[in-house]
Amino acid sequence: MPGPLPQSVLVVGGGGREHALVRALLGSPARPRVLCAPGNAGIAADVPCLPVAADDVPGLVALARREHVEFVVVGPEVPLSLGLADQLIAAGIPVYGPKADGARLEASKVFTKQILLKHKIPTAPAGIFTEVEPALAYLRQRGAPIVIKADGLAAGKGVVVAQSLAEAEAAVRDMLADNKFGAAGSQILIEDCLFGEETSILVVVSGRDYVILPTSQDHKRVGDGDTGPNTGGMGAYSPAEVVTPELLERIEREIVRPSVNAIADEGIEFRGTLFIGVMLTPGGPSVLEYNTRFGDPETQAVLPRLATDVLALLWAAARGELAHFKLAVRPEHALCVVIAAQGYPEKFSKGDAITLPVAPSLPPSTFIYHAGTTKNAAGQLVTNGGRVLGVTALAPTLREAAARAYAACDQVQCASKYFRRDIGAKQLNRR
Ligand code: AMP
Ligand code: GLY
Repeated sequence: MPGPLPQSVLVVGGGGREHALVRALLGSPARPRVLCAPGNAGIAADVPCLPVAADDVPGLVALARREHVEFVVVGPEVPLSLGLADQLIAAGIPVYGPKADGARLEASKVFTKQILLKHKIPTAPAGIFTEVEPALAYLRQRGAPIVIKADGLAAGKGVVVAQSLAEAEAAVRDMLADNKFGAAGSQILIEDCLFGEETSILVVVSGRDYVILPTSQDHKRVGDGDTGPNTGGMGAYSPAEVVTPELLERIEREIVRPSVNAIADEGIEFRGTLFIGVMLTPGGPSVLEYNTRFGDPETQAVLPRLATDVLALLWAAARGELAHFKLAVRPEHALCVVIAAQGYPEKFSKGDAITLPVAPSLPPSTFIYHAGTTKNAAGQLVTNGGRVLGVTALAPTLREAAARAYAACDQVQCASKYFRRDIGAKQLNRR
């Protein structure tokens, strides 16, 4: 029997994903006290936020101790790769999120590719390089389009899907010769380009046990029609119906279960989210990457659909008690539109005033999650990052969810607001 649920939870991070996590935890029947570090202006309206940076590992451990936190839920990848979970466990504080050895599955694309190939999990063939000349020779041999990936964490910017050899060669030189991504790009992967639709498979993992969360699809390019540069994600919806029940079964059989077992076989005790980026190619599903945390903005579309107590789910995973966990999912569709600052993912301004619609004028079942927001000296809500808000709506159909989310987006006032107009369009147009 699982033990009692924790009464005091700290969420680490300050984006839209963390706001969705905070809201989900506040919805737990266990009614825990929830804290967040560092949070943002919207999270601070819901729970106390403490000014400790998400990558300040000693500061976060000290905070958890001082506040008698019984459970820590880690949002972003950086503190995980810096060993936050290791340090919390050493301090006797249960944590949801892998230790540094597990976080390496996101922090090193080379490490992950080696595991995928060794365990025969479907993924694009790839070469690993540290020197320019052999990398260029490999490029010429494989031809374009081709994908160049910096090994390490590069905030989603270390992947170049090159349409021509010239573009590919420039990416190789940027990473290996000009150190555009610093140490993160001193080793690179060059992998074959895959074609198809992408889906995000979020899996709550505890050792060899796992629970697959509802499917979702992100929108990575900044512009409508999937144009322009890659971003952290401009919107998401759930379920992703392109993943039919039969296809999900295949993904579980060929990718999820083998991945969870491979990680355990490698000696990694993984307790956290394994987020598998999957390309649905004509030849079958293929792994693009692992992340070792919840997706942003996938989380803002997936968590509102859970009828399950999210605190109980994450606690069971952290405690190694996930084996018989039953997930309950609401039948509604969820759609999240990210409101970014004009210019993101390149140059954008900060400090622009935001006026949010108030509850009575919001469409039903619509939630505004904050990401890059803060209060200025005058106490006014202002932009403070590239992705500013995530507007999620739940509705019986995806079309209605989109209508509600966009109605709310149109009510947000901010001089620099930018958002895609076509979140969910792929699925809506398919029907
Ligand atoms: P990653 O961080 O590895 O998921 O890569 C970021 C994005 O680049 C993915 O979401 C895909 O859109 C694209 N991408 C990565 N690898 C490939 C590939 N082998 N073929 C085509 N697109 C890719
Ligand atoms: N939305 C993609 C990510 O969280 O990496």
